[in-house]
Amino acid sequence: MNMQLLSARDPGWTEWADVIVVGSGIAGLTAALRLKDQVERVAVVTKDVLQAGSTQWAQGGIAAALGEGDTPAQHEVDTLVAGAGACDLDAVRVLVGEGAEAVRELIEWGAEFDKDPSGDLSLTREGGHRRDRIAHADGDATGAEIQRALMEAVRRAPEILVFEHAMVVDLLTAADGGVAGLTIHVMGEGDADGVGIVRTRAVVLASGGLGQVFSQTTNPAVATADGMAIALRAGATLRDLEFVQFHPTVMYLGDDSRGQQPLISEAVRGEGAFLVDWDGARLMDGVHELRDLAPRDIVSKAIMKRMLESGRPNMWLDARHLGTPAGRAASDSERVETNTVFWERRFPNILASLRSYGVDPSTDLIPVAPACHYASGGVRTDLWGRSDVPGLYATGEVACSGVHGANRLASNSLLEGLVFSRRIAEVLPGELRQLEDPAPGPGTGRALVPGAALKQLQETMTTKVGVLRNAAGLAEAIEELERLGSVAATEIDPAAWEATNLLTVSLALAKAALLREETRGSHWRDDFAERDDPGFAGHFDLTLRDGEPVATFTPAPATDPLTPTLAGA
Ligand code: SIN
Repeated sequence: MNMQLLSARDPGWTEWADVIVVGSGIAGLTAALRLKDQVERVAVVTKDVLQAGSTQWAQGGIAAALGEGDTPAQHEVDTLVAGAGACDLDAVRVLVGEGAEAVRELIEWGAEFDKDPSGDLSLTREGGHRRDRIAHADGDATGAEIQRALMEAVRRAPEILVFEHAMVVDLLTAADGGVAGLTIHVMGEGDADGVGIVRTRAVVLASGGLGQVFSQTTNPAVATADGMAIALRAGATLRDLEFVQFHPTVMYLGDDSRGQQPLISEAVRGEGAFLVDWDGARLMDGVHELRDLAPRDIVSKAIMKRMLESGRPNMWLDARHLGTPAGRAASDSERVETNTVFWERRFPNILASLRSYGVDPSTDLIPVAPACHYASGGVRTDLWGRSDVPGLYATGEVACSGVHGANRLASNSLLEGLVFSRRIAEVLPGELRQLEDPAPGPGTGRALVPGAALKQLQETMTTKVGVLRNAAGLAEAIEELERLGSVAATEIDPAAWEATNLLTVSLALAKAALLREETRGSHWRDDFAERDDPGFAGHFDLTLRDGEPVATFTPAPATDPLTPTLAGA
């Protein structure tokens, strides 16, 4: 019996595959499509239906140096600046260097991006980008279009086995510590006893992020940090977990609103919308040279600061002027009409969402507040997606390839999944392990946390490990999380597995955040308000010891990765 593994029922079935891809967003499906002709049997397992992950919710787009005059070097500088000195320069160079080709392949697979009147890709701008380089689809439905195209490509490839409603409980390792299989719970109709084992030679984790750690997030309900927790229990290292990105413009629906909240894409600011406070004053004036298009962490902090100073629960996004060219006089009715036409064409889905909450962006200000959006950290990988566990690869939001540093640049996330999944598919077939016996097998492992603990966990994380952090709050959060972990669940079920995964990752995140005594990127300590170089130029790496997350600090290379790039740009 392995006490690191979660308690689960005895497996009732077995299967095998050469490679199992866990997750079905852009990262997972790209890996499966690229691997299908290279190995005998590829399986994709996903906790819900194929399209339920984060990819389909991505609004803004996918960033790549595709426009005239743009270069990977310029994309690199913007990525490094946003990453606040914590990016891995080699990884960033891979991302920006291979990005354009990867997007072209996506187009060949059937993804249709918006075009301008001359037939070229229509590119827009988002926070932190100094150029228009974001390709988008159906205005504001980029992720949904990519998901559609990839799912259709997978359906045209019946050799890819797809298991929906299949939750991975644990990764099983062989005697040498490498991958041997997965325990999977298939959530069939009313079938409460669907645990089985799939033996495999390699696992590609592409299971997304950890948004459900917090009370409000832009992530869907399936984002329960499972991949990170599974990897940790299998002996992998998590890196940069404290760098959780809070998106500045998430629609504020009231303090009691929980779970996935409506995102108002940064591309709306890219088209000219701006933030104002309750007195109507422009919020980003004097804060950053890029004003409303400053990197995301800076905009989120400016909003939070003004919320705290004014005691208000939200700020406002003003997009009433969009569609009317600057300087052109228009009557109010003309402006409203032009604005509505603009919204219907450029942001039809966000418009529908706003209207469903009774907000008309041509006449109303949009209430916004920051909410959890993206985990910049995750399973530590090398430039080919390899984790520390032989046969375990990670890609997309679950991974920490080093491209995001302390704050991901807007629209680099879809690109990361695409680029690094292609790389994994290049090396994995040549590195396939033998099919090994899991040792030791699953059994009555670690006690589970009840699903009912989740609300308290999310409240603790939101109030004490959220946008604004300090030592006292973080220490209290760790104590509270440990207390939640001491109450064992009486049921073994998916809700308890998810809650246990969320607790493990929350504890790791809070511990790393407590140790990082500086403010950098999306990690904001009000008791250590400055960035501390060289003190914290490096990474907190987290592993499990006796079931508890333990952090160690790995210093960054002596040269700040920004210096040579900026000097040469
Ligand atoms: C957005 O559309 O604002 C989100 C894009 C991203 O997270 O990169």
